[in-house]
Amino acid sequence: MTLILFAAPSLWPEYETALPAALAEAGIEARIVTEASEPGLVDYIVYAPSAPLQDFSAFTHTKAVLSLWAGVERIVGNGTLTQPLCRMVDPSLTEGMVEWVVGHTLRHHLGMDRHIVNPDHVWEPTCPPLARERRVAILGMGALGTACALALRALNFQVTGWSRTAKPGCLDGEDGLEEALRSAEIVVTLLPKTPETENLLDARRLALLPQGAVIINPGRGALVDDEALLAALDAGHIGHATLDVFRVEPLPTAHPYWSHPRVTVTPHIAADTRATSAARVIAENIRRGEAGEPFLHLVDHSRGY
Ligand code: NDP
Ligand code: OXD
Repeated sequence: MTLILFAAPSLWPEYETALPAALAEAGIEARIVTEASEPGLVDYIVYAPSAPLQDFSAFTHTKAVLSLWAGVERIVGNGTLTQPLCRMVDPSLTEGMVEWVVGHTLRHHLGMDRHIVNPDHVWEPTCPPLARERRVAILGMGALGTACALALRALNFQVTGWSRTAKPGCLDGEDGLEEALRSAEIVVTLLPKTPETENLLDARRLALLPQGAVIINPGRGALVDDEALLAALDAGHIGHATLDVFRVEPLPTAHPYWSHPRVTVTPHIAADTRATSAARVIAENIRRGEAGEPFLHLVDHSRGY
């Protein structure tokens, strides 16, 4: 079987070790290539958006495109992609996201900045609130949002989830979104970028949040209307925004987010894909494909995620 790795060359060394090891563990023999000299012979494509590949039509016998990324907005709308597309759902990726979200939630919940940056050495012993008194909304209750909700609930935060489809204990629809936003002191956005989620946090919805609410966005930059967020920060309605993802990445150096005193920029590092565990997910999907079993984490093209 032939597997092609379409990713930036900087990723090749780690996957050229991790993929053969994971495939061998799964009992699969494969030839791994990085050049598509014979596209008609390729069985599986392992894909990262850093790859220049735009046209999938020559891969006539390819059984699946296996994304190394959880978010697939850069490939899902590609008209030449007729093969099944699977996104990355991986325990290490999830673990990384949980740690990043919990860390940034605790920072804001505990008001850690007050003590970390205290140039005048002010001794002001205010009692921090307990997590049980803090309301957090998670927009997007998929693989990552659900894991973050569980971790925050384990710390006693009052967590409200919101997703597209109705689920037990989770809000949905526009009314559900408004209900979630009205009470959320901290909002975590873990939605995919789709036409429906673009600018979800616009001026009207930001205005529903309580005064001083914090936005934590590790989902996608396009979920937030940047101008509306900056205006809400300037007006003091939003207390802080911690942003990991942006419409343009790397975030241009002149972007107002970099210099805003109440914005924290992190460089799309909330949850990286680790080669060793990601390769196991890829190998399991190839095993399934070869055994005629359904693929895991199939993307629904009509939903866009
Ligand atoms: P999933 O597909 O598992 O979950 C997506 C969630 O969003 C689901 O709960 C889904 O609802 C919900 N959703 C989708 N569209 C809508 C909508 N229109 N209205 C309401 N809810 C909606 O994705 P993951 O949890 O694995 O990942 C989420 C996103 O996180 C990725 O798409 C990616 O953009 C981002 N990400 C960022 C990383 C980083 O390092 N910053 C790393 C990895 C991912 P439903 O359950 O009803 O389908
Ligand atoms: C992803 C990401 O989608 O890193 O996996 O953003």
